[in-house]
Parts: sequence; structure tokens; C-alpha cells
Amino acid sequence: MRKGILLLGGSGTRFKPVTNVINKHLLPIMNRPMFFYSLSCLMISNIREINIISDYQTVILIKKLIGHGSNLGIKLKYTIQKRPIGIPDGIKLSKRFIGNSDYALMLGDNFFYSDNLPKLLTNISKEKNNTIISYKVERPENFGVIKLNNNKTIKKIFEKPKKFISNLAVTGFYFYQNRTLDLLNKLKKSKRNEYEITDFNNLIIKKFSLKNFELGRGAVWLDSGTPNDHHETAKFVKIIEERTGKKIGMLEEVAFNMKFINKQKLISLAKNNPLTEDREYLLKTLK
Ligand code: DAU
Repeated sequence: MRKGILLLGGSGTRFKPVTNVINKHLLPIMNRPMFFYSLSCLMISNIREINIISDYQTVILIKKLIGHGSNLGIKLKYTIQKRPIGIPDGIKLSKRFIGNSDYALMLGDNFFYSDNLPKLLTNISKEKNNTIISYKVERPENFGVIKLNNNKTIKKIFEKPKKFISNLAVTGFYFYQNRTLDLLNKLKKSKRNEYEITDFNNLIIKKFSLKNFELGRGAVWLDSGTPNDHHETAKFVKIIEERTGKKIGMLEEVAFNMKFINKQKLISLAKNNPLTEDREYLLKTLK
């Protein structure tokens, strides 16, 4: 079974001063912390063993919130990242946790929404490939950007290119084969003094192969990397939830829909939920 890594570290520079005292991934989107949305993406990919990586203080707080995941039918492990030296460092720190399995890496500030997302992600996860998920954006210069070959395979990825390469941005959800772990030692720090996920992906293109799964217009990908982006994501969630009556990132509902927990467990979680709105919502999902 594929294992998952959820990256909730980083310095949160663009959110200062609030991130002087609280990790960005704990900031709310509606009444749920930001990372509930990324954690739910790993869960709907049918990934049940997840290593959460963050700083010491945040790990304590997250454990308080969701513990080791038994209420959600998942297994959560925790690893402390002492210094935010780059996204691939999160993979390095997870080596023992990953063992011989394939793995997926999810950035805690990423957000996906689409009608058929569980099926789509479960299928990608089931395949034995290295796969990245891409999405066409208006401002590609803020992301990893893909240059395609004529046959639509990935030629190279450029991290935040100043010159226009394409509109195809690399999202923060990556699926990797176990053998990619051998490439981690080849990475060198970039100009911004970090190990770059884009360098890792380019090495995979050279040594193995990297599949591109492009999410279509019917899907939404957002990230909450800046206060403005965070506000936009929160607005999107509010509009969808109010219009449809369906909540996003409700971990108990996700666990039930993925059959990680049964009906009795959902009822007991709902009954213990002190918030009337959420309690009623969870009980309604059973009807
Ligand atoms: O959101 C997708 C983009 O994420 C990709 O298109 C880029 O190729 C990729 O480099 C990354 O760019 P960002 O500039 O958004 O990366 P950032 O440094 O903001 O970190 C992204 C997430 O990873 C964030 O949730 C914090 C976490 N993180 C980051 C670093 C550097 C860690 O947990 N530890 C770290 O050491």
C-alpha cells in the first residue's frame, strides 16, 4: 500500500507576524484548520498511513487535534523538521516510515476540489508510476512550471521561472515510486539555500520517468501560500458549502465515505461533536 507524507513545516514568511506564534497550516478555513483539506486529499487517494512533518510546537498541537488517527481509521506518525530546508527534506525525514513502499507527498497549503476527485486520485495512487498533477494557471511564474515535449511527455520543470515557459503549473501533490528515494542524496541546495522539489522531479525525469496528470477545467486547484491566497481559498469553500450544503475537508465524513470507519463510529463521532452544525451535518450524511 502507498504511504503518504503531509508537509506542514516551513517558515510561513509571507504570513508574518501571525506565523511568529502559529504555524500557517493551523490557520482556519471556515472552522477547519488549513491542513484538514490537504490531509483529506491523501485520504481520498485511499492512503491510510501518513507521516505528518512539522516543527516541534506544531506537532504537539496537531496531536492534540487528531492524535494518531484511530478515530478516522488511519495511522498517523509524526516527524519534527528542525529547520525548513526544503520540500525534499520532508521525504528524507520520512525514509524509515516509507520503508519499501511507494509514497505520495502532499503540501499542507494545497487545496483540490472536483466532482470525481476520490476516483481520480485513487486511480493515480493505485498506478505504480511517478506522477505529478498539473493545472493550467494564469500566473505560472509563482510555481514549478512544466515544459512539454511534442508528444506531451514532460521535458523539464522550471521552478518559478521569470521567463514564460508555459501555463502548466505543478501542484503540490506528488506520487512517487520507492526507488526515487535513492535520488535524494544527489540533491544540492539551490540559490535560496533549500533543497528543491523541482530538482528532485527533474532527476526523476532523467533517471526514471515522470508522468503528468493534467487536471482539467472542471477541477479547482488553489494554494494558501499567501494571506491573499488563503482568503481566496476560504471564500471558495464558503461559497461551495453554502450553495450545496456539502462540506469540504470534513475528515469524519471523508473517513466514512472511504470506508475507513463504519456507520456506528461515525454516529459516535457525530454525537461527541460539540458543534451543533457539524453534529447535524455528520448525522445527515448517513441519510
Ligand atoms: O504549491 C505548489 C508549489 O509548491 C509548486 O508549484 C512549486 O514547484 C514548489 O516549489 C512549491 O512552491 P512554494 O513556493 O509554494 O513552496 P513553499 O516553500 O511555500 O512550501 C510549500 C509547502 O511545503 C508549505 O505548505 C510549507 C511546506 N514546507 C516547505 C519547506 C521549504 C515544509 O513543510 N518544509 C520546508 O522545509
